[in-house]
Amino acid sequence: MKNLFFLVVLCCVVATTATLVSAQSTAAKTLNKAVYDFLADTTTSIGFNAIHQSYFGDNILHAPTSKCTNYTTWPAASDLQADSTMASILARKYILFGANSVANVPKRFNYTAVGSNYGKCTGFEADIAASIAYRIGMNYAGVPFQAYFTNDTTVFGNLITDMGNLRFDFILSGMSVEGTVTLPSGQTVPRTDLIDFTCPYIKDGNGVVKGNLGSAISSLSDLNQKTVNLCVQSGTSMETLAKSNFPNANITSFSLGADPYTKTLNADFCHAYLAPIINALYQVKLDATKLSYVGDVGATSNVAVGVRKSSTPTAASSKKSNASVAALQLIVALLSLISFMLL
Ligand SMILES: *[C@@H]1O[C@H](CO)[C@@H](O)[C@H](O)[C@H]1NC(C)=O
Ligand SMILES: *[C@@H]1O[C@H](CO)[C@@H](O)[C@H](O)[C@H]1NC(C)=O
Ligand SMILES: *[C@@H]1O[C@H](CO)[C@@H](O)[C@H](O)[C@H]1NC(C)=O
Ligand SMILES: *[C@@H]1O[C@H](CO)[C@@H](O)[C@H](O)[C@H]1NC(C)=O
Ligand SMILES: *[C@@H]1O[C@H](CO)[C@@H](O)[C@H](O)[C@H]1NC(C)=O
Repeated sequence: MKNLFFLVVLCCVVATTATLVSAQSTAAKTLNKAVYDFLADTTTSIGFNAIHQSYFGDNILHAPTSKCTNYTTWPAASDLQADSTMASILARKYILFGANSVANVPKRFNYTAVGSNYGKCTGFEADIAASIAYRIGMNYAGVPFQAYFTNDTTVFGNLITDMGNLRFDFILSGMSVEGTVTLPSGQTVPRTDLIDFTCPYIKDGNGVVKGNLGSAISSLSDLNQKTVNLCVQSGTSMETLAKSNFPNANITSFSLGADPYTKTLNADFCHAYLAPIINALYQVKLDATKLSYVGDVGATSNVAVGVRKSSTPTAASSKKSNASVAALQLIVALLSLISFMLL
């Protein structure tokens, strides 16, 4: 009898915990399935292997397929109609992705078409976006959907706000799941507090590239001195890493993502810059006489597609949801206590 009661309580605890974590929207689940299929596709020209090989020629960065374990089936079409983001995508037959630095090197995004504020792109991540849009279109409409990109979010740190303001459907811009956001109040919160992510489509990290001004730099430890102008893009994980790993360097932050790279390349002020490993290796490959790779900095990260949470919490509703979470946790704790006393 006691055992039965304990079992009931256990189920209750599990169910309560499950409702606390199952917050992914239908849009997030749909995108997740498309990413999952993209990673698992090792044979066609729109699968991970082919796209990665065509840009990098090797497998420096492996897709972390082991992390892609939930939401791996297509949600029902009726669920998509009930999701405002997916319903409008089904109606217009294209997905609008938010990205910044659309014209940067490497060819993550190479803006080639026109539109008032969006167009088609080619490039590593643009090809991934196209693959995702193709898969969603074929599954739900029997025709490939197009992937379009905004080109007016030039500041990486604005992507999350711009998506919240419905300027595009999803973020596909080298954004790591592990990153943080500094709110206008000065408080720093995990990105996952503000948006949902699909499972990662690539494993990334950061590294340092030196230019000809930095010829005296031979290892990472040489960077940590005030005579070194170490350049980063503001509001990125590169900036955070530079400050924590090279506190003595003269760290200079630029809002435009291309600046740290071009200024190092052109031997203009920057001795070295931090970049996502994927950009860094590609840029070194393009300009081997002007740039060289110094080394990896920090942990690797998981890059995924960002999706609006099903209901973006306002300050009031987040206080309410904190309160309901606290209430649920209290109930769980009480039930556990009762079951413990009964045993
Ligand atoms: C972007 O695309 C255009 C046209 O396809 C090409 O000429 C150009 O080299 C590309 N730029 C980069 C940085 O890939
Ligand atoms: C965005 O595209 C428009 C044309 O459609 C172009 O005039 C504008 O310069 C582009 N902006 C950026 C930041 O590339
Ligand atoms: C998968 O589920 C776990 C909880 O079971 C959650 O933490 C994680 O965010 C989910 N991943 C995705 C991609 O939804
Ligand atoms: C350090 O960087 C700032 C710009 O952030 C620059 O004005 C200054 O000259 C640099 N200091 C040295 C010693 O180069
Ligand atoms: C809700 O709780 C989180 C931490 O669990 C906190 O960061 C956030 O500020 C809280 N929100 C409100 C409105 O109190």
